[in-house]
Amino acid sequence: MFMDTRVSLYESPVIIEDREAWEQINLKDAGTIEVEIGFGSGEYLLRRASEYPDRLFIGIEKKSGLITEVAKKVASLNLENIRLLDSCASNVFTYLFPACSLSRAYSLFPDPWPKKRHIKYRLFSTQYLRLLNNRLISGGEALIVTDSEDYCNWVLKQLPCTGFEVESSTIPPQFDTRFERKWLDQDFNTFFRILLRKTEHIEA
Ligand SMILES: C[S@@+](CC[C@H](N)C(=O)[O-])C[C@H]1O[C@@H](n2cnc3c(N)ncnc32)[C@H](O)[C@@H]1O
Repeated sequence: MFMDTRVSLYESPVIIEDREAWEQINLKDAGTIEVEIGFGSGEYLLRRASEYPDRLFIGIEKKSGLITEVAKKVASLNLENIRLLDSCASNVFTYLFPACSLSRAYSLFPDPWPKKRHIKYRLFSTQYLRLLNNRLISGGEALIVTDSEDYCNWVLKQLPCTGFEVESSTIPPQFDTRFERKWLDQDFNTFFRILLRKTEHIEA
């Protein structure tokens, strides 16, 4: 993570690994920025980036193999508005994104860590949601979609004092990602959606 030297957020290659280079970049001049946390095989990120060429898309994924896989797809599609970060989302949000810099963040099928002793590894804790709030612009949105009702309920419990207005519902499949397809193959076709809108700025 962050161990190579790459120059600018606006230049190829798409994989940004150098923390110092990143820190010199003023994301405030980048226009509308969307971030996908744990993009997996990148289907949603690639579709969004194709659909909105004037926005900057930043994908964060902690598995290097997936970064390489998706970087190849980005190159073959000639998408110039995607940057990939080989890191953990908490580090990126803590150290790289300035306050009020992101318009939209999403996480499709985040690891649910179902075992009680693993709950501490779940990403969308109150602390992380406060950080996410801080990095979003006013009115910015965060979308979390999960197959796990337990995880959904846990996230909803984390939300008080995080500065978000919440909309929660069940939804049919619509993202066509690897994990969504995996669940569909098992005849599971109702997912849990949490849509957050920043209504109050939180210092984090
Ligand atoms: C269950 S998979 C879902 C992948 C993809 N979104 C999909 O729908 O197919 C969760 C993904 O999130 C990544 N991930 C989990 N925790 C992460 C974190 N803290 N930072 C970045 N990526 C993370 C995992 O490596 C994995 O690729």
